[in-house]
Amino acid sequence: MKILVIGSGGREHALVWRLRQSPEVEKIWCAPGNGGTTAVDEISAEDDAACASVNVGDVDSLVALAERLKPDLTVVGPEGPLVAGIRDKFECRKLRLVGPSRRDARLEGSKIFAKEFMSRYRIPTPTLYGTFESAGEAIRALDAVDWPVVVKADGLCAGKGVLVAETREEAAAFIRCLLEKHALGQGGSRILLETALKGEELSFIVLTDGRSCLPMAPTRDHKRVFDGDLGPNTGGMGAYTVDGMIPPEIASIIMDKIVRPTIAGLSEEGLPYKGFLYFGLMLTADGPQVLEYNCRLGDPETQPLMMRMNFDLAVALDAVASRKLAGFKTAWKPGASACVVMTSAGYPGPFETGEKIEGLSEANALPDVTVFQAGTRREGDSIVTSGGRVLGVTAMGGDLEQAVCNAYAAVDKIHFAGAHYRKDIGAKGIARSRAAGELPRG
Ligand code: GLY
Repeated sequence: MKILVIGSGGREHALVWRLRQSPEVEKIWCAPGNGGTTAVDEISAEDDAACASVNVGDVDSLVALAERLKPDLTVVGPEGPLVAGIRDKFECRKLRLVGPSRRDARLEGSKIFAKEFMSRYRIPTPTLYGTFESAGEAIRALDAVDWPVVVKADGLCAGKGVLVAETREEAAAFIRCLLEKHALGQGGSRILLETALKGEELSFIVLTDGRSCLPMAPTRDHKRVFDGDLGPNTGGMGAYTVDGMIPPEIASIIMDKIVRPTIAGLSEEGLPYKGFLYFGLMLTADGPQVLEYNCRLGDPETQPLMMRMNFDLAVALDAVASRKLAGFKTAWKPGASACVVMTSAGYPGPFETGEKIEGLSEANALPDVTVFQAGTRREGDSIVTSGGRVLGVTAMGGDLEQAVCNAYAAVDKIHFAGAHYRKDIGAKGIARSRAAGELPRG
């Protein structure tokens, strides 16, 4: 198989890394890719240049690239091209693609569409107070809510569209920012207010062909920029997956009450969903509830998932594209994997780029470690920073503590000016395992 992976983050590097290990895969392109995704021996300089210059915001240019490269399969990482209808355009031209249709991608592209969908299929989700286009009306509605309250932009806002507001002042300021100052553009031109839930968040991702459904190992993300879950939200500062992360009875409830009704509802209303579907869940005392859908794999959740994956991803994706996933079996390497994201100084605010990264080979030489690149580019023989999230330093271990320890040992080998990372990735999970007697106290 020849496979085209679309995107340029750590998620896409991890996908390319896993797919490259499949005996079924002859060639992989990643467009636009990053400093870590290109295997220079695999593709020609012309194809490399065509991939690197593509704009993921321009679906027509992605169609033109696929018509030139003629991949057997295209896999889309980020939500932008999916929400813009890349699957529909590819299928019109008989190009096989793993990813949802434009309509189904609205589950991520419009939080209000997702809320209405969940209401139609009785999928558990926080109570909706209302949807608003006028700041005045939204602020008046705050008189009738319980605190804290969640204010959420309807459209895509690169992770900046949600606030859990503790006070009326905080909520009103965010509402004005979105609906009067248009700080997040079109994505924030409609909002919704919903109840805030207490519990633990979980990223539950499945791969589906619209009929059968393969759950990936559950993962946990760390969204805030600083240790102790402080500071602004980011795309994700680290993630992990570990055997036994959720009890089997919770996994069954998630599948029966959330995943299957979602996939059945989508098939009933439109085209069969083909691709990864991400359920951002809150595990509450009353059971799991859906905070958000994403129409793709998570980043950085994909990095630890790809490390533990013990089945042929290329074969699974091919089966999804042909809608022949029934009977496919997943398998996960025992133990745990963890990813620590290293960022440029200042992220998620403004940051400098072009800093030389040292120590990548030393880190990658450590046992059970792979450094996935994200905001990087090649400059001669060097790799330099080119984005906010720069690297996803990822490691396996026999348990979560070992995986995290291996990942931080690799982080210690890597240096670039202003590098920032959280020091507490997986800390809550390790504390929970210690409390449950699964790890020695120490
Ligand atoms: N890590 C969260 C996301 O991919 O949206």
